[in-house]
Amino acid sequence: MTLTEAKQKLAQYGQEHVLKYYDELDEEGQRALLSQIEETDMSILASCRNREELVKKGEITPLAAMELDEIAACRQSFTATGLEAIRNGKVGAVLLAGGMGTRLGSDNPKCMFNVGINRELYIFECLVNNMMDVVRQSGCWFHLFVMTSDKNNDVTIQFMREKKFFGYNPEFVHFFKQEMAAATDYEGKIYLEEKGRLATSPNGNGGWFISMKNAGLLDLVKKEGIEWINVFAVDNVLQRIADPCFVGATIERNCDVGAKVVRKNAPDEKVGVMCLEDGRPSIVEYYDLTQELMDAKDEKGNPAYNFGVILNYLFRVSALEQLLDGKLPLHIVEKKIPCLNENGELVKPQEPNGYKYENLVLDMIHQMDSCLPYEVERNREFAPIKNMTGIDSVESARALLQENGVEL
Ligand code: UTP
Repeated sequence: MTLTEAKQKLAQYGQEHVLKYYDELDEEGQRALLSQIEETDMSILASCRNREELVKKGEITPLAAMELDEIAACRQSFTATGLEAIRNGKVGAVLLAGGMGTRLGSDNPKCMFNVGINRELYIFECLVNNMMDVVRQSGCWFHLFVMTSDKNNDVTIQFMREKKFFGYNPEFVHFFKQEMAAATDYEGKIYLEEKGRLATSPNGNGGWFISMKNAGLLDLVKKEGIEWINVFAVDNVLQRIADPCFVGATIERNCDVGAKVVRKNAPDEKVGVMCLEDGRPSIVEYYDLTQELMDAKDEKGNPAYNFGVILNYLFRVSALEQLLDGKLPLHIVEKKIPCLNENGELVKPQEPNGYKYENLVLDMIHQMDSCLPYEVERNREFAPIKNMTGIDSVESARALLQENGVEL
């Protein structure tokens, strides 16, 4: 893109200020900035002025979960079905590790965080240990795809290689990068993170399947005959991955997606809950859950919206492929964005100072025809690490790991 073309594009979106330091850059810096301007989707930025309207929900009705007692009664059959699928190479997993983990505040990617106390125990190591249970049970490896972003890709790969994948078979581990999106102030003006670089952040975890395809990994999925993909977050150190019983239940119930859920510990707990929206599976975020929905009861008299998602989904690959052309809703999220101040100095804000633009994996659920919410015991499978202390923290996850017999 030439400077004139860049100026035209920037004028169209009211972003001319990003050229403020253009004349100070050397030739290579100028070229890099122009190409970043060319690649950046600026059409989404104006949406920050009507951000409430972007995520309007349809009519919400309950969606029953498969509860623990039903799972226990069918465990043998589900597990056998799941193990057969795993042994036939039909199950792969995607680790979503492209996030910035700003709440945890560590400089390194979250997977490198050491949760150990008397020994080293990294988050990625906890996940591999959990995967190894299934490798042992099934007697075979399953493919793990790791999504990173421009911001953490190299250091993540280097760490995992250095640690020899904590014993996982490297031939079954594949990395791909997600796309980035510009980050702006509250008026939708793009921040600069360097004089010759627009501030960007990963574009949310909803783009994982498209990014996987763009990286050419869908070819591998096809070649290997993978029919189910278990997508999971990096920060739940207790979660089960490619859990045979869960895989089997989703297959036997012939659903396009299975979603692991936990019983909420309070009506106003801050988790997204499973529901139907205009008759299709969906997730209603805690901040959209009205008092009326919180109080609603099912036919047994139990809370009708009682199961929260834990970001562990099993998608049918053929259903995902049908989504490739469809757009996911945009979420505009307030965040702390490192940026240049008036004087051209880099500042790392202590408080949110603008917006990031994201697609979320939870919106993919609404595009599936059928979903199985599958209950798991929260103390056995849900220990997310979002913060250093308090709720969903290093502290709480350590206690839960110890409760489950993991030495720290
Ligand atoms: P979170 O919503 O916790 O976001 O991600 P985050 O960026 O990691 O953390 P904060 O909000 O800045 O503190 C849930 C999961 O989705 C992944 C994360 O790595 C985590 O596994 N994720 C999130 C991505 O892979 N890409 C993204 O763009 C955002």
